[in-house]
Amino acid sequence: MARKKIALIGAGNIGGTLAHLAAQKELGDIVLFDVVEGVPQGKALDLSQCGPIEGFDAKITGSNDYKDIAGADVIIVTAGVARKPGMSRDDLLGINLEVMKAVGEGIKNNAPNAFVICITNPLDAMVWALREFSGLPHNRVVGMAGVLDSGRFSHFLAEEFNVSARDVTTFVLGGHGDTMVPVVQYSTVAGIPVPDLIKMGKSTQERIDAIVKRTRGGGGEIVALLGTGSAYYAPATSGIAMAEAYLFDQKRLLPCAAYVDGKYGLDGLYVGVPCIIGADGIEEIVEIALDDEAKGNLQVSVDAVKELLVACKNIDPTLQ
Ligand code: APR
Repeated sequence: MARKKIALIGAGNIGGTLAHLAAQKELGDIVLFDVVEGVPQGKALDLSQCGPIEGFDAKITGSNDYKDIAGADVIIVTAGVARKPGMSRDDLLGINLEVMKAVGEGIKNNAPNAFVICITNPLDAMVWALREFSGLPHNRVVGMAGVLDSGRFSHFLAEEFNVSARDVTTFVLGGHGDTMVPVVQYSTVAGIPVPDLIKMGKSTQERIDAIVKRTRGGGGEIVALLGTGSAYYAPATSGIAMAEAYLFDQKRLLPCAAYVDGKYGLDGLYVGVPCIIGADGIEEIVEIALDDEAKGNLQVSVDAVKELLVACKNIDPTLQ
């Protein structure tokens, strides 16, 4: 069987890390694409030279030509401008919307059968715009946010309870912004729900509330620390987990920014919900029962995403 082809649109911090992880895991041959000449080629050469040392077989090439993504099985999009200190995700909207237009057309013309994972922020609006510009079916275009946000929530909970992060399961739903919804009722340590752990005296409601707040601001905390650029190790790791779920038909149940039309009372927008990812892309959106607080928080988050979509449509009237 021929190797799979992974195209990474954007060869910046996340793009380079994605390429390294994909090569180490031998997910397939890798094309790094960027508008800046030299950068994808340079990173591809550098990463190729890891091959003999790490012992992986993957052909890694860099390109500034969309023709080179032809036939890609998976495309992960990080093209755009990253958030700078003091800049909200929403400030990025105008710049990255134009980038999504170019990327969407590049995908439509060269790799229309790919499974596309968008990481560019503001995520819920960018994945929606990318789907519109590319014209691919909704089940083949998805946004990466919930895996990362859940990873952050799980890490903080593992520290709080002093347990292995492997035993912590969390769900973060809603938009990938300050209104995201870490769902405490479905967050567990080895199956024990966090509310029960509070009753057992392992933590307090106040401490869990503070962790929820820290999770919501998780991206901003790293932006402020780095001083320049935004998080990239965990975002890339999250994108690769979603790509693997598709490539290996794993049927993983992961929180993703998926197109929701009907479930959760939503009509046709991208937002973070639990999804099953397998060989058919987003195979199912799983509607879980939420308590009143989570429901209310999800609505606030959905409203924030809707506002972003209105802003996108105002910037580019072809998006309707
Ligand atoms: N087509 C392809 N690549 C582009 C385009 C475009 N039209 N415009 C910009 N790029 C490239 C830049 O040249 C740069 O190499 O996208 C890359 C972005 O890389 P970084 O600035 O290092 O950003 P990164 O940290 O990788 O984050 C990318 O993901 O999490 C989000 O908020 C983050 O939107 C940002 C994106």
